[in-house]
Amino acid sequence: MDAELRDFLSTLHAEGAARDAAENDRLRRLRNLEPATAELLTFVLRAARARDIVEIGTSNGYSAIWLADAARDTGGTVTTVDVKEWPGVVENLERAGVSVRREIADAADFLAARPDASVDLLFLDAERTEYASWWPHPARVLRPGGVLAVDNVLSHPEEAEALLSLIAADANLVPGTVSVGKGLHLAWRRLAD
Ligand SMILES: C[S@@+](CC[C@H](N)C(=O)[O-])C[C@H]1O[C@@H](n2cnc3c(N)ncnc32)[C@H](O)[C@@H]1O
Repeated sequence: MDAELRDFLSTLHAEGAARDAAENDRLRRLRNLEPATAELLTFVLRAARARDIVEIGTSNGYSAIWLADAARDTGGTVTTVDVKEWPGVVENLERAGVSVRREIADAADFLAARPDASVDLLFLDAERTEYASWWPHPARVLRPGGVLAVDNVLSHPEEAEALLSLIAADANLVPGTVSVGKGLHLAWRRLAD
């Protein structure tokens, strides 16, 4: 990542944190990813050579910018999905100079419509209590060798528990939680079913 983009992301994160601190309604907060988690997630993206990358939960585009910058190294494309269009997202993506495909959709419908084994990296960063109801699609859409990443599993363990139990029970997935930021759960899809 070049220094100019890193500066822009630092500014965006700081402004988002200040805005969120003044906002009482949780659902109106931007809730941007922790920078350290973004560092790890984009490392995983590169190591997995992920090309078809899907993010659930766009907000103002902060984490999508990280993913899209890393995807330049793998020749990949990032699709980010949100139920609503947030102010500033188009401007932020343009200012960052990254290419991102945006979809306004409910993740339940979006994931259900994705073909089997069509995603190399699926990042869930939306409403944790909904994740289990999306099953089996988060696992079904993963390519062999693909990675499912779920944020906030240590900050909100009770909300993430149902999904993590489904992941743990899936013999095709190799899971683990990393204590970075708010807790990132990673599950690797085995190469052969
Ligand atoms: C934690 S924020 C995402 C933060 C973003 N990834 C970032 O780091 O900048 C959660 C987002 O999920 C979206 N969301 C909530 N439920 C959703 C659903 N069922 N489908 C798609 N998006 C959803 C919200 O509108 C919100 O923008």
